[in-house]
Amino acid sequence: MEIRDAGPEDIDGITAIYNDAVLHTTAIWNDQTVDAANRRAWLADRQKLGYPVLVAVDAHQSVLGYASFGDWRAFDGYRHTVEHSVYVRNDQRGRGLGLALMQILIGRAREIGKHVMVAGIEANNAGSIGLHEKLGFEHVGHMKEVGMKFGAWLDLAFMQLRLDARETPEA
Ligand SMILES: CC(C)(COP(=O)(O)OP(=O)(O)OC[C@H]1O[C@@H](n2cnc3c(N)ncnc32)[C@H](O)[C@@H]1OP(=O)(O)O)[C@@H](O)C(=O)NCCC(=O)NCCS
Repeated sequence: MEIRDAGPEDIDGITAIYNDAVLHTTAIWNDQTVDAANRRAWLADRQKLGYPVLVAVDAHQSVLGYASFGDWRAFDGYRHTVEHSVYVRNDQRGRGLGLALMQILIGRAREIGKHVMVAGIEANNAGSIGLHEKLGFEHVGHMKEVGMKFGAWLDLAFMQLRLDARETPEA
């Protein structure tokens, strides 16, 4: 297994993992699957902003999982805060890939001077909450019934990780 920056050759693998999460999980609160062009545009947008899209691949370069972050909110004052996503292919979970992807992703956020990472997690997603607890994220909020999928209301748990000890932001 190798973790590296994603390229065009990874789009089909990323798209398949994303669509599996749309169809079968409450990790993504979308109902519609996407095509490769959609994920290609997403990858280009992230890379244009200088933000990483990491993939975990096997020896055949098959995508086993991916992780990325983007701006948390689109106002100037939030520019030191990012929100991330992490997905591991359904037959590869529980083998340490999510943890490995996140550890590298957190390092990348630190390298570019981000101060806080935010995770918005469906409140019953024990796997993701356990992963983020293990990474040192703290529980900071719980919003009730702000989403819906598969005919049920969904609660959103917020967790955050402070990436550095800066007492004030630089200009
Ligand atoms: C959540 C997800 C990314 C975790 O990745 P993973 O590769 O399965 O997790 P790892 O094997 O790296 O586990 C790392 C740690 O996370 C925690 N964890 C993982 N799965 C867990 C589970 N089902 N229940 C509780 N804790 C869990 C554990 O602390 C684990 O450490 P341990 O193995 O030493 O106990 C993965 O399960 C996934 O892609 N799920 C579907 C999509 C999703 O929910 N994405 C997150 C959206 S916010």
